[in-house]
Amino acid sequence: MYKAASERYGKMKYRRCGRSGLKLSAVSLGLWHNFGSSGSYDNMVNMITSAFDLGITHFDLANNYGPYPGSAEENFGRIMSSVMRPYRDELIISTKAGYGMWEGPYGDHGSRKYLIASCDQSLKRTGLEYFDIFYHHRPDPETPMEETAAALSYIVNSGKALYIGVSNYSPEQTLEMSQLLRGMGTPLVIHQPKYNMLDRHIENGLQTVLEHEGIGSIAFCPLAQGLLTDKYLNGIPKGSRAESSAFLTPDAVKNTDLSKIAALNAIAKKRGQTLAQMALSWALRGGRLTSVLIGASRPSQIAENVNALSAPELTAEELAEIDAVLCK
Ligand SMILES: NC(=O)c1ccc[n+]([C@@H]2O[C@H](COP(=O)([O-])OP(=O)(O)OC[C@H]3O[C@@H](n4cnc5c(N)ncnc54)[C@H](OP(=O)(O)O)[C@@H]3O)[C@@H](O)[C@H]2O)c1
Repeated sequence: MYKAASERYGKMKYRRCGRSGLKLSAVSLGLWHNFGSSGSYDNMVNMITSAFDLGITHFDLANNYGPYPGSAEENFGRIMSSVMRPYRDELIISTKAGYGMWEGPYGDHGSRKYLIASCDQSLKRTGLEYFDIFYHHRPDPETPMEETAAALSYIVNSGKALYIGVSNYSPEQTLEMSQLLRGMGTPLVIHQPKYNMLDRHIENGLQTVLEHEGIGSIAFCPLAQGLLTDKYLNGIPKGSRAESSAFLTPDAVKNTDLSKIAALNAIAKKRGQTLAQMALSWALRGGRLTSVLIGASRPSQIAENVNALSAPELTAEELAEIDAVLCK
C-alpha cells in the first residue's frame, strides 16, 4: 500500500496561477505519452507516486491521450481509485477537449454539445467526481466564441470542473475568451501554450495579455519533447520518443540544429545542471510562468527535472549566452 512521502511539500515550489486562488506546483506532470494502453502500468504508477512524493500536485490529461484515445484517462482513473485515492484533495487534475475524439459532427472542436459530452465521458473514464481544471484544447474557428464560453462556464457551474483553461489560443482569442468568461462570472484561470527555448512565440503578445488579464500559464513541451536534453546528441537512443512516437519523428531530430543543443548543453554543464534542468530553469525564469508541464518516460527523469528548482536563478550573463546560442 502506497504511503506518500512525509517530506513531499518541503522541496517543491508552489506558484499562484494568475490572480486566482489556485496555486500549482512549479513542475507539473503531463500524461500525453507513456500512459496509454501500450505503456507499462507499473511504470505509470511509479511515475505518479514518485512525482507526488517530490511535491508535484498537478497532473494533466486530455480526452484524446493514449493510444488508444481515452486510455490515459482510464489508466489514471485506475491509479486514482487504488493507489492515490486518499490524496484526491491534494491534487489538481486537468483534462481537455478540442481535438477529434469520436465520429460524426459532435466529436470535435468547440460546440456546447461536444464540450459537455466530452467532459462527461472524461469523468466516467477517470471515475472522478470533478476535474480541477477543464480546458478547451484549441480554438474553434467555426463555433461562436460565446457558445464555447457558455459551455465552459456551465461545466464549472454544474460542478463538473472547478476552473476553466484554454490551450493554443492566440493573444486576441485569449483576450476575447477572458472577457466573455469574466462576464459570466467564471473567469479564465489558466492558459496552456507551448513554450521552450526553441519556441518562444508566447513572448510576442500572449504573455502581455495573460498578465493584464490575471491569467496563469503552464508551458507544455518545455523540453521540446526531449530535444532540449542531451539524449539526441549522439543519435536516437533505443526506446526514446523519437524512436517510438508519431509526434517526434527521426526527421524532426535530424532537422534540429544539434550544434545549438550541444552549445546549450555546455552552458548547462558550467552551471552544474543537466540540459533538461537548465531548460526548465530557463522557462521558469523571472516568474512569468505558473508551471512547466513536463512529460516523462520514467521516474528518474521526473526526479532530475524537479531538481532544476534547487539551482540558482540564471544570471543575466548566462541568459545572454543562451540567447546568443539561440539566435545563431
Ligand atoms: N495543450 C496541448 O496542445 C499540448 C500538446 C502537447 C503536450 N501537452 C501537455 O504537455 C505535457 C508534456 O509534453 P511533453 O511530454 O512533450 O513534454 P517535454 O517535457 O517537452 O518532453 C517529455 C519527454 O522528454 C524526455 N525527457 C523528460 N525528462 C528528461 C530528462 N531529464 N532527460 C532526458 N529526457 C527526458 C522523455 O522522452 P523519452 O520518452 O524519450 O524518454 C519525455 O517523455 C503532455 O504530457 C501534455 O500534458 C499539451
